[in-house]
Amino acid sequence: MDFPIFHLDFLNNRFLIAIIAVLHVLINHPLAVGGIPLVVLLERKGTKVPAQEAGLWDKLAFRILFVFFIVTTTVGAMTGVGIWLSASLVNPAAIGSLIRVFFWAWFVEWIVFVTEVVLILYYFLTWRKKSQDKAQHVRLGVILAVASWVTMAIITAILAFMMDPGNWLSERSLLHGFMNPLYLPQLAFRTPMAMVMGGAAGLFLLPFFTKDNPQLRIDASRLIGRWILGWLPILIAACIWYYYSVPGAMIANLSVANTTQQFANWYQALVYLMVTSVAIVAVVAGAAALGRLRQNSLMSMIPFVILLMLLSHFERVREFIRKPYAIGQYLYSNGLRVADYPLFKQDGLLKHATYSSIKEIRPENRLQAGREIFVIACTRCHTLNGVNSVRDNLEAMYGTPPWNMDNLRKFIGAMHTARGYMPPFPGNETDADALAHYLVHISENKDALPGSQTTGIRLTP
Ligand code: HEC
Repeated sequence: MDFPIFHLDFLNNRFLIAIIAVLHVLINHPLAVGGIPLVVLLERKGTKVPAQEAGLWDKLAFRILFVFFIVTTTVGAMTGVGIWLSASLVNPAAIGSLIRVFFWAWFVEWIVFVTEVVLILYYFLTWRKKSQDKAQHVRLGVILAVASWVTMAIITAILAFMMDPGNWLSERSLLHGFMNPLYLPQLAFRTPMAMVMGGAAGLFLLPFFTKDNPQLRIDASRLIGRWILGWLPILIAACIWYYYSVPGAMIANLSVANTTQQFANWYQALVYLMVTSVAIVAVVAGAAALGRLRQNSLMSMIPFVILLMLLSHFERVREFIRKPYAIGQYLYSNGLRVADYPLFKQDGLLKHATYSSIKEIRPENRLQAGREIFVIACTRCHTLNGVNSVRDNLEAMYGTPPWNMDNLRKFIGAMHTARGYMPPFPGNETDADALAHYLVHISENKDALPGSQTTGIRLTP
């Protein structure tokens, strides 16, 4: 409310963040955090085999690194910046709070990240230097791998904090925020997930780089298969630990989080699908470890594709089950602080909205007020005409318009009890009434709802 409200009415604001952030994770985990250790493993293998084979392993490791290097330093780095940009546009209050709590953590992360970039450039560019000490180059790779992991380990603390800030709620210190209850379980999950995915990415690329050398393909897929099989049990154990660490209120959101409300009943089927997918990854990795992935290129690509889908699903679910909060118990997803709610109830929401042109609701400005309340209270998650359109939601609930105004008022007053993933309505009865009028209005009019990036802002004196 202290910022003008950015809104994308077709795409939906949270979707904008989701696309960029999920793409970032899908690059970072397999190609950086898990990918670099895999490359180092292959490079090291090249130093252990007889001299006539050494060059082949070395070339293979370099080719895989080449792909990882290009993708992580372009799309990977840009989407990292993109998360900042999109999250600051969509929920500046949340980013503002996180920066205040995690300033020094982010400061360190930034230094480690810059170090990581320098190291990967150095690792990549010095690979083919003639006078090189291979063992030293491998050690450089290990340091790079550690740096990649550390950046993830810091950011994971922030993601886990958003789910459950734990003692920070009373202690308000960086250390308490960092060591929140979900931090270690989530880190324990992400680490083997990245390693398994790094292996799967390697397996995916293998057929492209071993076309003329079937023996190398078998030997390398043996090594990578064993790598995946080694990490997989740790991943499964961490998954279970993580699941049981997530508070009950969030678990209750799972059925909707998995797909949408419409498909909540498919929950069980989806769980089976996920278990089956992991089993397929294990089987393919097992076949690779036994040297059975001779000709079948398609097969060696399957685990990576499955894991990409699983990881994006996991990120989506994690973001969803946190609702109605952006920062657990502290800040709702609509960008309003829990502690400010009594004030909104007492004075009305718009009185405290810096960029609202209305401060007091009267019959003649009620519709406009309802629109402003909708923008503030609902558009972080809903659109009028696009993804998660409130018009469609209401139609699913109340049938084709006209809708009953009383029902709408009642729904607004109790929306958080009916649907636990929505924040309570932030305002008093006059606000709820104005919003109900606006919702009835949009059922009859196909209004557009441009954000302030299009309409500009007007400050009231
Ligand atoms: C934190 C995000 C969030 C906020 C803020 C939010 N909603 Fe929702 N709302 C959702 C989600 C998610 C759904 C479920 C969509 C689905 O899966 O079909 C939903 C569903 C609904 C539904 C359908 C409910 C049902 O039982 O089928 C209505 C109506 C609705 N929202 C209205 C509103 C209004 C009005 C506001 C603002 C006062 C609002 N929402 C604020 C996330 C939110």
